[in-house]
Amino acid sequence: IPVEAFDLVVFGGTGDLARRKILPALFRRYCAGQMPEGAQIIGAARSEMDDAQFRVFVTEAIAEFNGDFPYKDEDMQGFLSILFYITVDALGDRGWTELAAKMQADRVRAFYFSVGPSLFGPLAERLHTYGMADMNTRIVVEKPFGRDLETAKELNRSLADHFDEHQVYRIDHYLGKETVQNLMAIRFGNMLFEPLWNSQYVDHIQITVAETVGVQGRGEYYDRAGAMRDMVQNHLMQLLCLIAMEPPSRFEPDAVRDEKLKVIRALDPVDPGDIVRGQYRAEGERQSYLEDVENPQSTTESFIALKLHLSNWRWAGTPFYLRTGKRMRARSSEIAVVFKETPHSIFDEEAGRHRNILTIRLQPNEGIDLDVTIKEPGPGGMRLVDVPLDMTFTEALGPDAEQVPDAYERLIMDVVRGNQTLFMRGDEVEAAWAWTDPIIAGWEERGDKPLPYDTGSSGPVDALALMHRDGRRWREVR
Ligand code: BG6
Repeated sequence: IPVEAFDLVVFGGTGDLARRKILPALFRRYCAGQMPEGAQIIGAARSEMDDAQFRVFVTEAIAEFNGDFPYKDEDMQGFLSILFYITVDALGDRGWTELAAKMQADRVRAFYFSVGPSLFGPLAERLHTYGMADMNTRIVVEKPFGRDLETAKELNRSLADHFDEHQVYRIDHYLGKETVQNLMAIRFGNMLFEPLWNSQYVDHIQITVAETVGVQGRGEYYDRAGAMRDMVQNHLMQLLCLIAMEPPSRFEPDAVRDEKLKVIRALDPVDPGDIVRGQYRAEGERQSYLEDVENPQSTTESFIALKLHLSNWRWAGTPFYLRTGKRMRARSSEIAVVFKETPHSIFDEEAGRHRNILTIRLQPNEGIDLDVTIKEPGPGGMRLVDVPLDMTFTEALGPDAEQVPDAYERLIMDVVRGNQTLFMRGDEVEAAWAWTDPIIAGWEERGDKPLPYDTGSSGPVDALALMHRDGRRWREVR
């Protein structure tokens, strides 16, 4: 379904994120027939370029980052014809009058700030000065949204000077992932799970986001951030919120975001003994973390595992174990809800004790599994085995499931439609930093150092111990 005509300006239009994600995503939406007649996409950056050069840049980006996505030549020609470029100085006056003249009256204008956070304030101010900040204007900002509570508040303030909260779209691309949205459908669209979704029935929940890549040429940024700021404060926190939140009254932006905020505020401070940090070692041709970031003294973590508690009625007593890291064994992200054992077993001891596990696989092989216990087939008496009720989306839903839009496609279109449900509100981001800050401050005060771990492993052994000592274990990263 096409959306209403819009103008979309991508500040940082020649940058890495624009090239890898934003522009290829827009092209795929164009091919899907979602761009209305008269839409304009305008790249804006400091580089000297004209429309024709920008179109070449975008064609190359699509070739490089859209894999084998099939498209027709006429789609490519059509898409290129709605692309424009204006050289703009975020900190000066150059290009702003031209940009304002390019905007068409009475239509949605979205400004994507695909730039470092230090430019958010200056860009917002200039949009205002040059008459581009009205009620039709929407601002899209990327992480990192600050590096602590103070800087996040400052960013929120600098946007709030010129825009209302309902005009600000803070992207966490994990919220645009298909399975992450499915999490809400599973919880709130079925009768089956919700009655069991609490500490009475759930033993613990584990969230793993394992990556095989290293810091990928982003060493300078990453070494100042680390896994806590780069992944936990935002992506893992959002997953935790969706798993743990109370049912919102409606699937509407503020109803959902109010419930997520309550989860973050219910998080207990974390005991330093419940956190394991790691740094990957070199392996063969692959460099160590310290070499990748070119900082032999670095104490930044490329892996982190933590055990968390929520102080509320639903979850008191059920721990949440989170872990994420780079250069791990496999690219594998999943949430596992591990239910308690039955209160009493009617079977012999040799039947064993079993648990139901609901696994939500974010990537790869997006889908959902429910491990159920059944009798092992055969004459050998009552032996129990766990078998998965497997709902891999591509198998269950056919080829349509393979066409699922990538997170950025969905999120950018949501901006144009004016739907903030999958975006973070300012108070959520601040609450997440308020929880993160004391943890990081603790490491700094104590001079904590991360533990080395092997490339291709599941992180430092101490991370395994974090669960073993509670009589639990991590699911395998594969
Ligand atoms: C980004 C982080 O936000 O998410 C990266 O900055 C990380 O360090 C990436 O690699 C992971 O995203 P995805 O979609 O590949 O899981």
